[in-house]
Amino acid sequence: MDFKALYFTLIKKVLSVMTGLVVTLMGGLPAVPEGETKDSYTGLKDVYADYFDIGTCMSSSFLNDTELTEFIIKNYSSVTAEWEMKMVTVHPSEYEWNFTGADKIANFCRENGIKLRGHNLLWSRYENWMLYDENGNFVDKETFYARQLEYFTVIMNRYKDVVSCWDVVNEPFNNEPSEEGEFHQDPVYELCGEEYVEMAFRNARKACPDAVLVLNECSLERYKEKQDLLIKWLKTWLSKGVPIDAVGIQGHINTITATDTVSSIERIICKLEDIGIKNIQITELDLCLYLNGEEKTNDIEDWKRDYQAIKYKKLFELFREHSDTITSVTFWGADDGHTHLNNYFKADEPLLFDSNHMPKQAYYAVCDF
Ligand code: GLA
Repeated sequence: MDFKALYFTLIKKVLSVMTGLVVTLMGGLPAVPEGETKDSYTGLKDVYADYFDIGTCMSSSFLNDTELTEFIIKNYSSVTAEWEMKMVTVHPSEYEWNFTGADKIANFCRENGIKLRGHNLLWSRYENWMLYDENGNFVDKETFYARQLEYFTVIMNRYKDVVSCWDVVNEPFNNEPSEEGEFHQDPVYELCGEEYVEMAFRNARKACPDAVLVLNECSLERYKEKQDLLIKWLKTWLSKGVPIDAVGIQGHINTITATDTVSSIERIICKLEDIGIKNIQITELDLCLYLNGEEKTNDIEDWKRDYQAIKYKKLFELFREHSDTITSVTFWGADDGHTHLNNYFKADEPLLFDSNHMPKQAYYAVCDF
């Protein structure tokens, strides 16, 4: 056995014993009712109706599966398009537009009274034709901002009857700012500097004055320095009147790895509240079951499922405590059969429902209050 394998065997042994102890101390996890059927349990959105919206991401291909659509209607009051409202899909080049998937998702939401989170207007890691002229050189900033305003105006107004908010800027900051610089070093940043964030919000407000505008950021549970950076910049932008209405905490959390703690998420929620943010959204929640660096396998140990149920329970306790400011909690996937993590790992089980759309232990933990 090599050193890495030995390390994981040992650490998992310790964690499995600890998990068992915690479950015992808690007096056990909530019972999973026998004979539960797809109709007999309460939809998650109804359990949380007095607290916040419950969302899922989806793709328009889901709509070809009636059973899956019914499952979504039962459990979720909000939907985010996984890819089909991003610029790479909708407006990948100057003369190309593609609203097919976005229109289908928007109509599904309209027909079923489901809110649609607009996701997203500017994600600087992706190719952005608006930055370049026909020779591939940077245009000037003014041309970029003018093109951006035109795009925002078209997409935001097309869906304004059904969209509850827009993620205007996605993931602007680096994880470890003292080593990597505060902002992602990508072409948008290269052309405009940090003002690109501010300008995107101002353009979004101009394009669709009533829209709720969100700054959406990742990995906040893991990097305290990144939390502090976000707060520092929000204070600067808000004091200059930049129209940021809400902040999204993505929440791609590692269930077991020690860095991604519930108290770290509590820290950033409290800091946002302290600077006066009144609308906080959890936008992409999932709890991966593999330790960082652990070899992938389709054989997930039961103690990990218990650990996940405990962590989900604690997280939702925290979210309920802050339900004056938390307006929605969106899962990045509807069920364990529909999660982006299955593309990266052999299989994962990061959500509250299994791939047959039945509630898992974690669902009962979250609903037990
Ligand atoms: C980020 C984005 C999401 C999605 C995930 C996939 O978090 O905001 O839209 O693409 O990455 O991992």
